[in-house]
Amino acid sequence: MIQQCYTMHDMETLFETLKTFNKPGEMKGITRLAYSKEDEAAHQFMVETMGEHGLFVRKDAIGNIFARLPGQNSQLPAVGTGSHLDTVPQGGAYDGALGVVTGFYALMQFKAGELLRDLELVIFRAEESSRFGFSCIGSKVMTGKVKADQWAENVDDEGQSFFQVNDDAGYASEKIASCCLPDHYFSAFIELHIEQGKRLESDGLTIGVVNGIAAPTRFAVLVRGHADHSGATPMYQRQDALVASAMIIEDINHAACRESPWGTVATVGKMEIQPNSMNVIPGEVTFYVDIRGIEKSSISRVASRLQEAVHKAEKDNDVTITLREISSEEPVKLDDGLCDVLAQQCEKNDISYMKMLSGAGHDTMNLAQRYPAAMIFTPSKGGISHHPDEFTHFSDIEVAATLLKETLRELGNRQ
Ligand code: GLV
Ligand code: MN
Ligand code: MN
Repeated sequence: MIQQCYTMHDMETLFETLKTFNKPGEMKGITRLAYSKEDEAAHQFMVETMGEHGLFVRKDAIGNIFARLPGQNSQLPAVGTGSHLDTVPQGGAYDGALGVVTGFYALMQFKAGELLRDLELVIFRAEESSRFGFSCIGSKVMTGKVKADQWAENVDDEGQSFFQVNDDAGYASEKIASCCLPDHYFSAFIELHIEQGKRLESDGLTIGVVNGIAAPTRFAVLVRGHADHSGATPMYQRQDALVASAMIIEDINHAACRESPWGTVATVGKMEIQPNSMNVIPGEVTFYVDIRGIEKSSISRVASRLQEAVHKAEKDNDVTITLREISSEEPVKLDDGLCDVLAQQCEKNDISYMKMLSGAGHDTMNLAQRYPAAMIFTPSKGGISHHPDEFTHFSDIEVAATLLKETLRELGNRQ
């Protein structure tokens, strides 16, 4: 059944429905980790919804979803849009899902054959790094950036690699090469996303035209000391893995603060302590470092400082430390021409905007290495993201969805 008219209200209802795909019993925000039951159910729901509305839907070998609205000439590269449905633990409802529902809304504003080119909505698999420690798996697979050895080494909290989880969910890791999109698949790709910072809100602007994306470089740090009695072991005889970790974390924090002029940031957001008992000196600690920035040299300085901190902490605490790089990505510049199209659309429609960089990572950073790509940001209330309080006013969403639609119209009619 092809619906004649898909309204903003329909889009809002769809957005509210997606919120219900949540981990059972979750009281704080949305937990929809990649490949979890709720993530699979949300993907399946979108497959059905998009099919019922007349789009041609396919899934690839890792569960990336593509929904296509044919134009007059399907031989031409398509115009793409889309985002992701997975979330961080106890995250918000907007990160990712907003780009999916606005993309769907935008496609629904056109009839098959109305535009010259096909339009395609992509739902990227496993964008968040929360489960496997590295991000944007769907778009990496689409752009031929699979690192099989590294990916096999990074396991989730149940000890399963991405490949095992993908296969257990009924997909086919052995066919992963078939997910790589051909050259000229897209003539342009536009992702709509929340800003996840507060520049737009502070400046009272409605739209961010994103012209560059900061890149993450990530490490796993394994500190091996010796577990011992917390009362009976004198301070000078300890090999405390947590004290060593704390010293390293403090050094990384200082190193990133020194790089503030370049906008570089560093975070330790995950740590596992063994045996994790109040009366036992921590014998083993694993923690994860996420360094992000636009300037590769600045990221490298923080990474070097991490190595120095590791050597110092080993000596000072009589522990051994293994530093393993999980991923290292290039900061990405987005397409000037597409940013200008978005800026002109804003000017034509009296929408306040600024060109800006994204501190968070997005699938667009991978697509941008193969196809012209840009992003639209909507304001995040209080700049809050990866948190249950993530919020964007619906009036801002309406403006952004309309901007996306008009931009797809313009790009879809380009010769
Ligand atoms: C994606 O949300 C990221 O971690 O940047
Ligand atoms: Mn996110
Ligand atoms: Mn996101």
